[in-house]
Amino acid sequence: MNYIALTLIAACLAGAASSPSADKANAWMLGEVGAFRQRADVWRRSLAAGSGAFPTIRLRAELDTLRRAYKRIEPAVETLHPECLELFNAPPVDRVDEDEPFKIEIEHPQGLQVLEEEIYREDASPDRARVALLLAQLCGAADELASQLRFAPPDDARWWEAAENEVIRIMAMGLTGFDTPASGKGLLESGAALRSLGDFAACYRGRIPSHSAGLAKLILAASRPLEAATDFDGFDRLEYLRSYGNPLHAAFTDARRALGLGRVGSLPGVTRADRAQPIPGRAVSARARGLFDPAFLDREFFALDYDGLHRETPTAAGVGLGKRLFFDPILSGDNRRACASCHRPGNAYAEPLERSAGFRSPDGDSLPRTTGDRNAPSLVYAAYQRAQFWDLRATLLEDQIGHVVNGRQEFNTTFAGIQAKVRAVPAYVRAFAKAFPRAAADPVTDATLVSALAQYVRSLPGWNSPVDRYLRGERNTLDPAAKRGFNLFMGKAGCGTCHFPPAFSGTVPPLYRETEAEVLGVPASADTLAPGLDTDPGRYRVRPAALWRGAFKTPTVRNAALTAPYMHNGQLPTLESVVRFYAVGGGAGMGFKVPNQTLPSDSLRLSSSERGDLVAFLKALTDDPLKADAPPPLPPVPQRPELASRPPGGEY
Ligand code: HEC
Ligand code: HEC
Repeated sequence: MNYIALTLIAACLAGAASSPSADKANAWMLGEVGAFRQRADVWRRSLAAGSGAFPTIRLRAELDTLRRAYKRIEPAVETLHPECLELFNAPPVDRVDEDEPFKIEIEHPQGLQVLEEEIYREDASPDRARVALLLAQLCGAADELASQLRFAPPDDARWWEAAENEVIRIMAMGLTGFDTPASGKGLLESGAALRSLGDFAACYRGRIPSHSAGLAKLILAASRPLEAATDFDGFDRLEYLRSYGNPLHAAFTDARRALGLGRVGSLPGVTRADRAQPIPGRAVSARARGLFDPAFLDREFFALDYDGLHRETPTAAGVGLGKRLFFDPILSGDNRRACASCHRPGNAYAEPLERSAGFRSPDGDSLPRTTGDRNAPSLVYAAYQRAQFWDLRATLLEDQIGHVVNGRQEFNTTFAGIQAKVRAVPAYVRAFAKAFPRAAADPVTDATLVSALAQYVRSLPGWNSPVDRYLRGERNTLDPAAKRGFNLFMGKAGCGTCHFPPAFSGTVPPLYRETEAEVLGVPASADTLAPGLDTDPGRYRVRPAALWRGAFKTPTVRNAALTAPYMHNGQLPTLESVVRFYAVGGGAGMGFKVPNQTLPSDSLRLSSSERGDLVAFLKALTDDPLKADAPPPLPPVPQRPELASRPPGGEY
């Protein structure tokens, strides 16, 4: 794919009109990109000139400086040209190329994180020739970025989107040390990233008079604690987010509004995961003020189909109908099982079984029940991910429902079978017509059925835990153990490098367009004496790339206190056991042979009180109140007496 062409098309579609401030911002950024390139090139040349005289300590110092220069151009990379991200700052692990849906191609990483890994390697001294090669590649990346910026200069809306995303990038990833695992300099360089946002805002000085002074002050105030952070583990991320992170994000939102730049992000999205099928729109809502604003992630974005359109616009009638269907066992082959049988409202719409019970044999209850393959996940935040199921095999909630209907272990039926029964219920036919007026002539279809169910799942409210309310400043106290746990989660214990805020799931900031899977090496059973490695192939079953063997979606950990047992196989019975599993380095740390484990296999060196703090934090992520709908009364089916005894909410 020719990105320059793509960018040009994108710019034309958006009718990008430049403004003097946008031109200024572009000139400033081109200067920064040039500075980055020069830094990399000077380093590369001096390596070539006298390689012996380059001690490791100097390599590390050079890397710090180069990374700080990168942080100043990061907004242009992450938002304006995300296709360049792989060239600059790809995670140092091989990836399956998601552009190639029909063949497996492995991408090898390059850029600053690979450079860091080389310079901090423990087994040998850094390979200077490799360092020089990586630097040459970074020079090439800078050239590419610069030519794109010259070719299609971003307009005001794109610049402010890029700046806002950088705030999100810093708060959701920079604070965790996401891209600096070896050097531990993530906080310091986040300070540099913030300062450069001050330079960006200065390009708009005068256009937002009442705001710019306040914004500049806030940026400065927020960068100081980061620049002064010498203790990575000890930094109080919770208080930082509360006092600086959220207000700063809100200030960017306000400034953008003051400039009259309403809805941004209408350019065709070109991102790493979605390049094959870009989705327009933006996951972060234009009115969000702070990462923990309940409106931060726009659930309608996650409901967009690949063409960028909603299959159905949600309505109260659609949600109400979806709710009744969710609790009605009429949907299953034996009229005894509903969605709510396995997604139980009191368990945050998860279930207390290790794995779901299989479908009851049609011959009656005499035969032993089978067991499903996996644990049923909570549905409360399912609306905020770009992939459904542990193996990410469905994108939209609408797609996911077909898997349940046809699943032999789940509903063991067909859409035609469901339609025939639903059409026999006059109350449902009326409700479908009301919820889907455009289809009123023949409202009961596969599409309207899945749409109603998806609308209900999307309507489940969240973002209301004690942690959220503390971070939003709506309350002034939080259990001290939960506070320490938050800081461990986002810092020393590394949890936040996979479970990203605000959903604490694998949906990746700052664009939140991709939901990731990881290989942890989860044990096959809770048996502590002779545990084996779980044999579920995970994402490999969907796409047979060796890297995906044993890879599972990173789920939200919100409401985890209500969703035991844990993991795709339900084999970790308590939150304490989950934390112990991580503390020893996952499956590889337990001594299993786990090819391609993406979780670091070394011990987290957590004391028992630190492990307790992590559990306290997870418990403080419980929504209060949690929406736990009771089964609504079932509508009668006049012609089908055998359906009269079906249990509301389903049974097991
Ligand atoms: C037999 C129990 C069972 C029934 C009935 C059931 N589910 Fe599930 N559900 C599961 C299991 C198990 C998974 C995980 C399967 C996997 O990932 O392979 C799941 C996954 C999901 C997911 C994906 C969530 C995520 O985070 O990946 C959604 C959404 C969902 N179910 C909604 C529904 C809806 C809506 C219904 C009714 C139409 C339903 N389920 C009926 C057991 C069930
Ligand atoms: C390398 C990425 C990664 C890191 C780091 C990570 N997790 Fe996870 N987490 C996952 C994945 C993937 C799963 C699902 C694994 C599975 O089911 O096989 C998961 C599952 C969980 C679950 C179970 C959720 C459920 O509904 O079953 C909890 C709780 C959890 N993680 C908490 C943590 C904590 C606490 C930490 C830090 C100590 C942490 N995670 C670090 C990726 C990660």
